[in-house]
Amino acid sequence: MPTYSQSKLPIAIEKGEGSYLYDTEGNRYLDLFGGLAVNVLGHSHPEVVKTLKEQGEKFLHISNIYLNQPAIQLAKTLVDHSIRGKVFFANSGAEATEAAVKLIHKWRMKHAPERNGIVVLEKSFHGRTLGALKLTRQPGVQQDFPQPDFEVIEVEKENLTEMEKVIQERQPLAVLMEPVLGSGGILPLSEKYLQEVEKLCRQYEVLFCMDEIQTGMGRTSKLFAYQHAGVSPDLILFAKGIGGGLPLSGIIAGEKLENSFSSGDHGTTFAPSPLSAALGNTVLRILLEEGQLQDGREKAIYLWDKLTDLKEQFPETLASIRGRGMMIGIVSNKDAEFVAELRKTMVEKGFLIDVTQKTIIRLLPPLTLTEEEIDTFIAALQQTITELISS
Ligand SMILES: Cc1ncc(COP(=O)(O)O)c(C=O)c1O
Repeated sequence: MPTYSQSKLPIAIEKGEGSYLYDTEGNRYLDLFGGLAVNVLGHSHPEVVKTLKEQGEKFLHISNIYLNQPAIQLAKTLVDHSIRGKVFFANSGAEATEAAVKLIHKWRMKHAPERNGIVVLEKSFHGRTLGALKLTRQPGVQQDFPQPDFEVIEVEKENLTEMEKVIQERQPLAVLMEPVLGSGGILPLSEKYLQEVEKLCRQYEVLFCMDEIQTGMGRTSKLFAYQHAGVSPDLILFAKGIGGGLPLSGIIAGEKLENSFSSGDHGTTFAPSPLSAALGNTVLRILLEEGQLQDGREKAIYLWDKLTDLKEQFPETLASIRGRGMMIGIVSNKDAEFVAELRKTMVEKGFLIDVTQKTIIRLLPPLTLTEEEIDTFIAALQQTITELISS
């Protein structure tokens, strides 16, 4: 089906190694797109491959009627490094959002039947299944697909007055936000905004929920992006990088919500896949115990410095650099055609970059990126911009 035809590149990948992908014709590409924020450790990380083999030789699937040791260990590590609570595992990001909507509904039935509505930000993205789609505030994605009948209230980001008014007047159940809006245009929320929204949520007993599906797993230089602001959510959604390249997602429900599901309220056949969970344990070990989170933070600072220099060098082409850590939007003040040509030329030169919202170059590189790789990318970008503006 042609569902990806707009963004597809005519490249057939043969193998991946570290920060590089190789196509079937032997070309090498520096992968700065990272499988849409999944490959936090790059490709074929030796520890990830080792775990894949070891767990593969034990068991791949057992169903949810037995104890799944890799998943139990993973849930424990996630909770130890986020909020006190319980974890439900799913497979995709959208399924994590669906689980969150159902959990919030259950909480409502027990604690606040008079309340209604989940507050989300304009341009937010929470997935494409029907429940998640209702929370996603992008008309091109939402289109005219059928909508389930729970209430969703959209507010402008960083507008505390509007948020306060909505919370006071509409008495919603929950606020759900991406700490850095991803496909909405790599828009980071300020720490102050997150702190003030948390305060409002506490004051009016509204659930404070973070969609960390794209921002989690070290992408923004902390395990979860909300941690930059020192806030403490009631619910965290995660996916993408956690499975080391295999599907795995879930929610971490804090103390308020952790007992809202009872037996039979929710479930799925495949999750938590023991293999994905074992990979998740390896990913978290490398990030948290082997220093990769810290190393990725240093590389992100290096990359930001270089990009900022480039922006100063080309003020007519590059308007701003935004995002956080290894989640970067390079906003161009040229038109969509120019940016598409820039991307095409960079790909021809062996650099995989993405474009979102037509004029924003999106980078989601692995945390394992090296300074030399960054230097090569910056040199190619500099050369490409010079060629395009002088042609
Ligand atoms: C913030 C956010 N939420 C939800 C999703 C949906 O995840 P999935 O595509 O795995 O269903 C995404 C995917 O990009 C996302 O970035």
